[in-house]
Amino acid sequence: MSYQGYTHILASVDQGVGLIRLNRPQVLNALNAELMSELVDALSRMDEDDDVRCIVITGNERAFAAGADIGEMAEASLVDMYTRDNLSRWDRVRRIKKPIIAAVNGYALGGGCELAMACDMIIAGEGARFGQPEINIGVIPGAGGTQRLTRAIGKAKAMEWILTGRFVSAHEAERAGLVTRVVPDEAVLDEALALAREIASKPPLAVRLAKDAVLAAFDTTIETGLAYERHNFYMLFATEDQREGMRAFLEKRRAQWRGR
Ligand code: CAA
Repeated sequence: MSYQGYTHILASVDQGVGLIRLNRPQVLNALNAELMSELVDALSRMDEDDDVRCIVITGNERAFAAGADIGEMAEASLVDMYTRDNLSRWDRVRRIKKPIIAAVNGYALGGGCELAMACDMIIAGEGARFGQPEINIGVIPGAGGTQRLTRAIGKAKAMEWILTGRFVSAHEAERAGLVTRVVPDEAVLDEALALAREIASKPPLAVRLAKDAVLAAFDTTIETGLAYERHNFYMLFATEDQREGMRAFLEKRRAQWRGR
């Protein structure tokens, strides 16, 4: 599948990993409607592409993304915002079945922080800065910040981050539970790609059902969540990879995954 022809992102596939680079450096990768629609398009196509097992989204050294494009909404009315409904595109990101890793250098603010949180894991450079500064421009997070940040780091911290809009260092974000791992700035993309390749080497149906079950933890009671997990676990006994994985273990050899 070809991933050429986008204007605001660059996309490619290598060794089972789809790489999407946000590419509006002149505005610190501010997420305008066109960029978001290209991003959603590339993610959806990678989700269907058998050559892709895991996806990495990154920005540049200065910014992962400094938020939604303020220029695009500064003069918008409620009716404009409601009828454009740009933020509903984000629901599609949530429905991508393959794991997504955010590789974050520089600013991940507002919608940028929300995009990183919509991914499944975040690898951050030491110089990365996270935050939900919407309060300082007269609004609140609109692409999941109040929900995902609160689930990730708890009410007490999320409330402070969102009500002050302060920028948070990568190490603080890691301590709070937002970030998977902090690495030197120059190692961010390599670390994220290495993690993505490791995940890409695992049995794909098990990866998909594991992601699905972990995400369900946010939406359900513990009872329903446990039943959901059990269901996904049992489902894997309909796959060739379950037979292969368990037999390979007992025969003391390396499993050959078929994704079936
Ligand atoms: N939207 C549009 N343009 C943006 C932008 C954004 N979110 N963030 C940065 N830019 C533009 C700047 O306007 C500037 O453009 P010009 O060169 O044409 O003036 C360029 O990117 C570089 O930015 P700065 O000159 O401001 O760079 P800096 O190093 O001095 O500051 C910064 C960096 C602290 C990140 C600052 O740019 C900033 O505060 N940006 C806005 C952060 C923000 O408020 N994000 C939340 C947006 S609202 C949102 O995301 C809603 C939602 O939940 C969906």
